[in-house]
Amino acid sequence: MPDKKIMITAALPYANGPVHIGHLAGVYIPADVYARFQRRLGKDVAFICGSDEHGIPITIRAKKEGVSPQEIVDKYHAIIKKSFEDLGISCDEYSRTTSKNHYETSQDFFKTLYDKGKFAEEISEQYFDEEAGEFLADRYITGTCPNCGNENAYGDQCEKCGSTLSPAELINPKSMLSGNVPVLKPTKNWYLPLNDYENFLNEWIIKGHKNDWKPNVYGQVKSWLNEGLKPRAMTRDLNWGIPVPLPNAEGKVLYVWFDAPIGYISFTKEWAAKNGKNWKDFWQNDNSDLIHFIGKDNIVFHCIIFPAMMKAHGDYIMPTNVPAFEFLNLENEKISTSRNWAVWANEYVEDFPNQQDVLRYVLISSAPETKDNNFTWKDFQTKNNSELVGIFGNFINRVAVLIHKYYGGKIPPGNEQAEELKEITKSATEIEFYLEKFEFRNALSALMNLARFGNQYLQTAEPWKTIKTDEAKTAESLFVAAQIAAALGQICEPFLPFTSEKILKIFNLEKKNWNDLKSNPVLIKSGEQMNEAELLFSKIEDETIDNQINKLENTKINNQKTNPNAAPMKTEISFDDFTKIDLRTATILEAEKVENTDKLLKLKVDTGTDVRTVVSGIAESFSPEELAGKQVMILLNLAPRKIRGIESHGMLLLTTKPDGKLAFVTPDEKVKNGVEVK
Ligand code: 2FM
Ligand code: ZN
Repeated sequence: MPDKKIMITAALPYANGPVHIGHLAGVYIPADVYARFQRRLGKDVAFICGSDEHGIPITIRAKKEGVSPQEIVDKYHAIIKKSFEDLGISCDEYSRTTSKNHYETSQDFFKTLYDKGKFAEEISEQYFDEEAGEFLADRYITGTCPNCGNENAYGDQCEKCGSTLSPAELINPKSMLSGNVPVLKPTKNWYLPLNDYENFLNEWIIKGHKNDWKPNVYGQVKSWLNEGLKPRAMTRDLNWGIPVPLPNAEGKVLYVWFDAPIGYISFTKEWAAKNGKNWKDFWQNDNSDLIHFIGKDNIVFHCIIFPAMMKAHGDYIMPTNVPAFEFLNLENEKISTSRNWAVWANEYVEDFPNQQDVLRYVLISSAPETKDNNFTWKDFQTKNNSELVGIFGNFINRVAVLIHKYYGGKIPPGNEQAEELKEITKSATEIEFYLEKFEFRNALSALMNLARFGNQYLQTAEPWKTIKTDEAKTAESLFVAAQIAAALGQICEPFLPFTSEKILKIFNLEKKNWNDLKSNPVLIKSGEQMNEAELLFSKIEDETIDNQINKLENTKINNQKTNPNAAPMKTEISFDDFTKIDLRTATILEAEKVENTDKLLKLKVDTGTDVRTVVSGIAESFSPEELAGKQVMILLNLAPRKIRGIESHGMLLLTTKPDGKLAFVTPDEKVKNGVEVK
């Protein structure tokens, strides 16, 4: 039997914003490590992902940015795709759910289920906004949470107490589109009776995967099944999505969680067509392992709903495993797109050029595998400086420098049976063992342990000393060290692909199959010529880290503002600075337009200390006639300025009304002129 195909999917990110470190640590980097590793084993791998471009997250973002959903997905699809490329996420295909092929594949899938009689048609009452003329998705309805009294709960969830809600439970529901009270209106939708699949799911997951699925995934599925499944609508009354391919289904689209996972299939088709592969070998053949990498919030969709859809269809295999990750926090707080509490992939790439592997390393080492984990910038700095620079980079660099120094870059003769070479086999075996169990942190530790071993080996062998007393010993130890360095270059590739490329270049090596690494740890022969050493990692200074921490602190300050659109506060001034400002009450005596200008008025102002001329840009808000006798505030000690040839002495205080027109700042009761404002 030929080797199994490996079908790897990574949850399709919503194209409603860039991806952040939480997405990377919990889905995309582990999926990439796994895909790269399987390729190194020589397996026929398809690693498929793409943008999820339908659903409420997209339309909400579009409303917020005041543009169309299409513009939103075009913008963020490009940003996410580029971030993945920049960070070495090696998807074989990164497509999008607005592609023509995806529409067809999803509609065909739906049609197959429909023709097989797998759906139940049901009429239900849904909230409808009469002014907007639209049915309201759960997220478009707000109201008071029946559990905690939060007045801003959503139709599907209360973010304050965390309870899951349905729109009908909200007290005083309000449409987010018009602010009106929505009305209940009957509408027809197509439901997949998930309850019909309970037995199948029990047999397949609860009985069949108790020991090989992660406890968090298994546990969630079990509790869903214990509660009992209900029919779930696979269509929605919305105007953004894939049209339901049935007559008389106008205004209805496929539920985003129906079309998104089908994206895995349609994108595999796209990839297969371009690469001379048969997509069915990966999806419709038992000789294929389907692995879904997801975050914990996606478990129900990948372990219950999508499998039920595939079962209903009949032609598809079930996932072999669904490694779901927990969440990553940032500086001990929950990452949040809406609160901008995140480290964005695209910003990281800009702020840390050529340091993609540092982020990959730190995120794998703190991957939220079994429980939520935390990312801090200080930890990022420490892991870079003491582990990547201090251990890994240091070892490779020492080996390269010493071989260049003593042997002109030629690998010296040595013992191919040396005991220490067994460490290489051991590391490769250990990493494989952990990666097959989706234990990425342990796998990474095994990699680092080999680098540690290399450093200790050099420290004990001291080739820089033996060169003076026993050259053959130096040759022997540097031969062994070269094998370890070359092995690190080979086996770090799934984790640190950019670094691997550099090391392989230093040692003039091609990528090797993982099994060959295990069977023969001699990876570079005596007499082979190396290239110049290249710096792998560099120290990250405090200043760089402080900048990132400041960025987050600014986010906090912005989040505390009651009005996020308010202009940012100007630079703080001291009390002494404030006392230099001489603000007084005054009265306008006369006003006239400044010739050939639209905005300027020339004013005669009684300041209580003198009568002076002030030129003010207020002509679009006031006519000269209405100003005589008006009490105002004046900045008295502003240095005189010439405006259109007229010398202006001081400035009147104004603010802007909601209609954009200006208004004077005045005392709330008439006071004498020249009184100080304190
Ligand atoms: O939770 C999310 O971000 C979804 N866009 C994931 C979709 S995964 C799949 F089914 F396509
Ligand atoms: Zn609540």
